Amino acid sequence: MKRIVILISGRGSNMEAIVHASAAEHWNARVVAVISNRPGAAGLQFAAAHGIATAVVDHRAHADRAAFDAALGDAIDAHAPDAVALAGFMRILGDTCVARHAGRMFNIHPSLLPLFPGLHTHRRALEAGCKVAGATVHFVTPQLDHGPIVAQAVVPVLPGDTEDTLAARVLEREHLMYPRALRWFVDGELRIEGGIVTHTRGEPQLF
Ligand code: GRF
Repeated sequence: MKRIVILISGRGSNMEAIVHASAAEHWNARVVAVISNRPGAAGLQFAAAHGIATAVVDHRAHADRAAFDAALGDAIDAHAPDAVALAGFMRILGDTCVARHAGRMFNIHPSLLPLFPGLHTHRRALEAGCKVAGATVHFVTPQLDHGPIVAQAVVPVLPGDTEDTLAARVLEREHLMYPRALRWFVDGELRIEGGIVTHTRGEPQLF
Protein backbone atom coordinates (compact mmCIF):
# COMPACT_ATOMS: atom_id res chain seq x y z
CA MET A 1 0.00 0.00 0.00
CA LYS A 2 1.53 3.33 -1.10
CA ARG A 3 1.59 6.24 1.32
CA ILE A 4 0.40 9.77 0.57
CA VAL A 5 1.12 12.82 2.73
CA ILE A 6 -0.94 15.96 2.11
CA LEU A 7 0.12 19.50 3.02
CA ILE A 8 -2.60 22.09 3.67
CA SER A 9 -2.94 25.58 5.08
CA GLY A 10 -6.70 26.01 5.37
CA ARG A 11 -10.01 24.58 4.23
CA GLY A 12 -8.60 21.41 2.71
CA SER A 13 -11.36 20.61 0.25
CA ASN A 14 -8.87 19.11 -2.24
CA MET A 15 -7.46 16.98 0.56
CA GLU A 16 -11.00 15.79 1.35
CA ALA A 17 -11.54 14.91 -2.30
CA ILE A 18 -8.35 12.83 -2.31
CA VAL A 19 -9.26 11.04 0.94
CA HIS A 20 -12.75 10.23 -0.35
CA ALA A 21 -11.58 9.08 -3.79
CA SER A 22 -8.80 6.89 -2.42
CA ALA A 23 -11.26 5.08 -0.17
CA ALA A 24 -14.21 4.90 -2.57
CA GLU A 25 -12.08 3.70 -5.49
CA HIS A 26 -10.00 1.29 -3.37
CA TRP A 27 -6.67 2.78 -4.42
CA ASN A 28 -3.47 0.91 -3.78
CA ALA A 29 -2.59 3.97 -1.67
CA ARG A 30 -3.93 5.82 1.31
CA VAL A 31 -3.52 9.22 2.90
CA VAL A 32 -1.34 8.56 5.95
CA ALA A 33 -0.90 12.11 7.21
CA VAL A 34 -2.12 15.67 6.77
CA ILE A 35 0.35 18.38 7.75
CA SER A 36 -0.52 22.05 8.10
CA ASN A 37 1.62 25.12 8.64
CA ARG A 38 -1.37 26.74 10.36
CA PRO A 39 -2.63 25.32 13.67
CA GLY A 40 -6.18 26.46 12.92
CA ALA A 41 -6.48 24.93 9.45
CA ALA A 42 -10.03 23.59 9.16
CA GLY A 43 -8.88 20.59 7.16
CA LEU A 44 -7.04 19.18 10.17
CA GLN A 45 -10.37 18.39 11.84
CA PHE A 46 -11.61 16.46 8.82
CA ALA A 47 -8.37 14.46 8.72
CA ALA A 48 -8.46 13.65 12.43
CA ALA A 49 -12.13 12.65 12.20
CA HIS A 50 -11.16 10.19 9.46
CA GLY A 51 -8.41 8.58 11.52
CA ILE A 52 -5.60 10.22 9.59
CA ALA A 53 -2.50 11.38 11.46
CA THR A 54 -2.20 15.16 11.64
CA ALA A 55 0.73 17.43 12.38
CA VAL A 56 1.33 21.16 12.52
CA VAL A 57 4.64 22.71 11.50
CA ASP A 58 3.99 26.36 12.28
CA HIS A 59 6.16 28.63 10.15
CA ARG A 60 5.88 31.35 12.84
CA ALA A 61 7.57 29.08 15.36
CA HIS A 62 10.75 28.82 13.28
CA ALA A 63 13.54 31.35 13.20
CA ASP A 64 13.91 31.42 9.45
CA ARG A 65 12.86 29.72 6.25
CA ALA A 66 15.68 27.17 6.44
CA ALA A 67 14.61 26.04 9.90
CA PHE A 68 10.96 25.79 8.84
CA ASP A 69 11.93 23.89 5.72
CA ALA A 70 14.02 21.40 7.67
CA ALA A 71 11.25 20.83 10.22
CA LEU A 72 8.65 20.41 7.50
CA GLY A 73 10.87 18.01 5.57
CA ASP A 74 11.36 15.94 8.73
CA ALA A 75 7.61 15.93 9.47
CA ILE A 76 6.91 14.70 5.94
CA ASP A 77 9.62 12.04 6.01
CA ALA A 78 8.38 10.75 9.37
CA HIS A 79 5.52 9.21 7.37
CA ALA A 80 7.75 7.71 4.66
CA PRO A 81 5.54 8.92 1.81
CA ASP A 82 5.54 7.66 -1.76
CA ALA A 83 3.75 10.85 -2.79
CA VAL A 84 3.45 14.31 -1.25
CA ALA A 85 0.53 16.50 -2.33
CA LEU A 86 0.39 20.23 -1.69
CA ALA A 87 -3.30 21.13 -1.53
CA GLY A 88 -3.89 24.76 -0.70
CA PHE A 89 -0.52 24.91 1.04
CA MET A 90 0.30 28.60 1.20
CA ARG A 91 4.01 28.65 2.07
CA ILE A 92 6.81 28.70 -0.46
CA LEU A 93 9.02 25.65 0.03
CA GLY A 94 12.78 26.06 0.01
CA ASP A 95 14.98 24.27 -2.48
CA THR A 96 16.20 21.82 0.16
CA CYS A 97 12.70 20.64 1.05
CA VAL A 98 11.76 20.37 -2.62
CA ALA A 99 14.94 18.43 -3.39
CA ARG A 100 14.20 15.97 -0.55
CA HIS A 101 10.90 15.07 -2.23
CA ALA A 102 11.75 15.65 -5.87
CA GLY A 103 9.84 13.53 -8.34
CA ARG A 104 7.04 12.63 -5.92
CA MET A 105 5.78 16.03 -4.79
CA PHE A 106 2.76 17.63 -6.46
CA ASN A 107 0.89 20.93 -6.27
CA ILE A 108 -2.47 22.15 -7.48
CA HIS A 109 -2.55 25.73 -8.66
CA PRO A 110 -5.76 27.57 -9.61
CA SER A 111 -4.72 28.82 -13.03
CA LEU A 112 -3.75 27.48 -16.41
CA LEU A 113 -0.01 27.52 -15.86
CA PRO A 114 2.29 28.98 -17.05
CA LEU A 115 -0.27 31.81 -16.87
CA PHE A 116 -0.72 33.48 -13.49
CA PRO A 117 1.69 31.83 -11.08
CA GLY A 118 1.40 33.23 -7.55
CA LEU A 119 -1.63 34.73 -5.82
CA HIS A 120 -5.04 36.13 -6.87
CA THR A 121 -5.19 34.02 -10.00
CA HIS A 122 -8.93 34.36 -10.59
CA ARG A 123 -8.86 38.14 -10.17
CA ARG A 124 -5.98 38.35 -12.63
CA ALA A 125 -7.80 36.14 -15.16
CA LEU A 126 -10.90 38.35 -14.91
CA GLU A 127 -8.84 41.55 -15.21
CA ALA A 128 -7.09 40.19 -18.28
CA GLY A 129 -10.44 39.44 -19.94
CA CYS A 130 -9.65 35.72 -20.24
CA LYS A 131 -12.48 33.65 -21.71
CA VAL A 132 -11.27 30.46 -20.07
CA ALA A 133 -9.73 29.78 -16.67
CA GLY A 134 -8.76 26.65 -14.82
CA ALA A 135 -6.32 24.82 -12.63
CA THR A 136 -3.12 22.82 -13.01
CA VAL A 137 -1.63 19.83 -11.21
CA HIS A 138 2.13 19.82 -11.58
CA PHE A 139 5.25 18.24 -10.16
CA VAL A 140 6.88 20.62 -7.69
CA THR A 141 10.24 22.07 -8.65
CA PRO A 142 12.18 24.82 -6.87
CA GLN A 143 10.60 27.55 -9.01
CA LEU A 144 7.18 28.57 -7.62
CA ASP A 145 4.18 27.20 -9.55
CA HIS A 146 6.38 25.68 -12.24
CA GLY A 147 7.28 22.08 -12.91
CA PRO A 148 6.07 19.43 -15.31
CA ILE A 149 2.30 19.62 -15.88
CA VAL A 150 0.39 16.44 -15.03
CA ALA A 151 -3.15 17.64 -15.75
CA GLN A 152 -5.16 20.76 -16.43
CA ALA A 153 -8.82 21.64 -15.96
CA VAL A 154 -10.47 24.27 -18.11
CA VAL A 155 -13.71 26.14 -17.40
CA PRO A 156 -15.36 29.06 -19.18
CA VAL A 157 -15.28 32.56 -17.77
CA LEU A 158 -18.92 33.67 -17.87
CA PRO A 159 -20.34 37.19 -18.13
CA GLY A 160 -20.88 38.61 -14.67
CA ASP A 161 -18.34 36.29 -13.04
CA THR A 162 -16.74 37.46 -9.82
CA GLU A 163 -13.60 36.05 -8.26
CA ASP A 164 -15.84 33.90 -6.06
CA THR A 165 -18.05 32.47 -8.80
CA LEU A 166 -15.06 31.71 -10.98
CA ALA A 167 -13.13 30.14 -8.08
CA ALA A 168 -16.10 27.91 -7.26
CA ARG A 169 -16.39 26.73 -10.88
CA VAL A 170 -12.68 25.93 -11.00
CA LEU A 171 -12.68 24.24 -7.58
CA GLU A 172 -15.32 21.75 -8.67
CA ARG A 173 -12.95 20.55 -11.40
CA GLU A 174 -9.99 20.56 -9.04
CA HIS A 175 -11.80 17.99 -6.92
CA LEU A 176 -12.04 15.65 -9.91
CA MET A 177 -8.60 16.29 -11.31
CA TYR A 178 -6.30 16.15 -8.29
CA PRO A 179 -7.38 12.69 -7.07
CA ARG A 180 -7.13 11.34 -10.62
CA ALA A 181 -3.64 12.77 -11.13
CA LEU A 182 -2.39 11.37 -7.84
CA ARG A 183 -3.85 7.98 -8.55
CA TRP A 184 -2.03 7.91 -11.88
CA PHE A 185 1.22 8.60 -10.06
CA VAL A 186 0.80 6.01 -7.32
CA ASP A 187 -0.23 3.45 -9.93
CA GLY A 188 2.95 4.20 -11.91
CA GLU A 189 1.05 5.47 -14.94
CA LEU A 190 2.93 8.72 -15.54
CA ARG A 191 5.97 9.12 -17.76
CA ILE A 192 8.14 12.26 -17.86
CA GLU A 193 10.34 12.91 -20.85
CA GLY A 194 12.04 16.23 -21.42
CA GLY A 195 9.79 17.90 -18.86
CA ILE A 196 6.60 16.65 -20.55
CA VAL A 197 4.30 14.37 -18.58
CA THR A 198 2.19 11.82 -20.42
CA HIS A 199 -0.14 9.11 -19.22
CA THR A 200 1.23 5.71 -20.18
CA ARG A 201 -2.15 4.48 -21.47
CA GLY A 202 -3.09 7.80 -23.03
CA GLU A 203 -5.81 8.85 -20.58
CA PRO A 204 -6.86 12.46 -21.21
CA GLN A 205 -4.95 14.83 -18.95
CA LEU A 206 -7.52 17.55 -19.57
CA PHE A 207 -10.49 17.94 -17.23
C1 GRF B 1 -7.45 25.65 -4.37
O1 GRF B 1 -8.09 26.52 -5.26
C2 GRF B 1 -6.08 25.30 -4.86
O2 GRF B 1 -5.98 25.25 -6.24
C3 GRF B 1 -5.24 26.44 -4.35
O3 GRF B 1 -5.80 26.79 -3.11
C4 GRF B 1 -7.14 26.34 -3.03
C5 GRF B 1 -7.19 25.41 -1.89
O4 GRF B 1 -8.49 25.00 -1.56
N1 GRF B 1 -3.85 26.07 -4.30
P1 GRF B 1 -8.68 23.81 -0.51
O5 GRF B 1 -7.91 24.17 0.74
O6 GRF B 1 -8.20 22.55 -1.15
O7 GRF B 1 -10.16 23.80 -0.24
